[in-house]
Amino acid sequence: MLKNCKKEKACMYNIDNVREDFPILIRQVYGRPLVYLDNGATTQKPRCVVEAMVDEYYNVNANVHRGVHFLSQQATELHEQSRETVRRFIGARSASEVLFTRGTTESINLLAFSFGEAFLREGDEVVVSAMEHHSNIVPWQMVCERKGARLRVIPMTDAGTLCMDAYRQLLSERTRIVCCTHVSNVLGTVNPVEEVVREAHRHGIPVLIDGAQSTPHFPVDMQQLDCDFFAFSGHKIYGPTGIGVLYGKEEWLEKLPPYQGGGEMIKNVSFERTTYNELPYKFEAGTPDYVASHALAVALDYVSALGMENIYQHEQALTRYAMEQLQQLEGMRIFGPPAAEGQHDAVVSFLVGNIHHLDMGTLLDRLGIAVRTGHHCAEPLMHRLGIEGTVRASFGLYNTKDEVDALVAGIERVRKMF
Ligand SMILES: Cc1ncc(COP(=O)(O)O)c(C=O)c1O
Repeated sequence: MLKNCKKEKACMYNIDNVREDFPILIRQVYGRPLVYLDNGATTQKPRCVVEAMVDEYYNVNANVHRGVHFLSQQATELHEQSRETVRRFIGARSASEVLFTRGTTESINLLAFSFGEAFLREGDEVVVSAMEHHSNIVPWQMVCERKGARLRVIPMTDAGTLCMDAYRQLLSERTRIVCCTHVSNVLGTVNPVEEVVREAHRHGIPVLIDGAQSTPHFPVDMQQLDCDFFAFSGHKIYGPTGIGVLYGKEEWLEKLPPYQGGGEMIKNVSFERTTYNELPYKFEAGTPDYVASHALAVALDYVSALGMENIYQHEQALTRYAMEQLQQLEGMRIFGPPAAEGQHDAVVSFLVGNIHHLDMGTLLDRLGIAVRTGHHCAEPLMHRLGIEGTVRASFGLYNTKDEVDALVAGIERVRKMF
């Protein structure tokens, strides 16, 4: 399946070979070479991922799980092999702990709904952190509202790290679940999630980790993290859009009711009563995106062949370099912890003087540089920082020092225009 990606031949992390795997990177925008620094929003796709999708539609396509015929069995096999690939990639104990969803957002909505139905009562508390993406706030807010429960927030230091003492004090006999992001999509903060989990478990409280911004950047292992639930999106790790994962420990998933009803999630249906399918199918109503699940597995094989540790080293070096260079610019204000080892992931959020983030983003775009501007779906975090938004450059496995230099030169050029 990796036959069309160069890295199959190169066991070393060779940036030139890697870039050739991503056809879009040779594009020009406004007559300039594309500098794609919006990987936190979505990543570009290597040829092998796109071709796996085309190949499946051309040669295998059939609905999974329900057919006796050849194609259906082959599509089912690819879909279930993909679940096994995800299991291996995140170190889950069993493939039945891997639920396919549409992405992190749907994973968290699934959990908030099911967990809320089973375990949330009036007066209970759900703990989230001050640096969550809206998708790890709003689903919990919605279920709290329905159940009369309360959302509690782990505060953040001015340096952009979690106040762990305050966290410990928040945990009580009323706390039902802790929901925390692994890496902030705005600040790049890598949270001490193992400690978050340990503290919660001391009180018998389960933990959801939002892995949308960690999974693409460094190895994640469910046994090491020991979290009870973990969510991530395929499109942020070089896979297709519309596919994601919710990992849950089997003992928890067994206790939760289904999220949606329909085909696939049932054992028997009558007008009097329905019994539900076993894991993971209990949570997967309707035809799954079996083409996307397969392409996600191809993407995970792709990054695994490059080596998640190599990707981490490459992106850490790039982030450190970017922060060093950016800090030298006049009026530069970078948000989040310093780029010390293990504390700051491949995201740099900044503002320059009084230049509005939208102006900076728009003018950088004209230079061919794609960054994101605004509140990054983290409005409460913006309120905490006392700002409306930032400019965010986020790196992927194919970005280079030259591209960081282009960003720095671009910002300097924009700054001089104001
Ligand atoms: C930390 C974090 N959580 C959740 C999400 C939502 O991911 P998706 O839109 O793929 O569901 C994002 C997306 O940017 C994110 O950065």
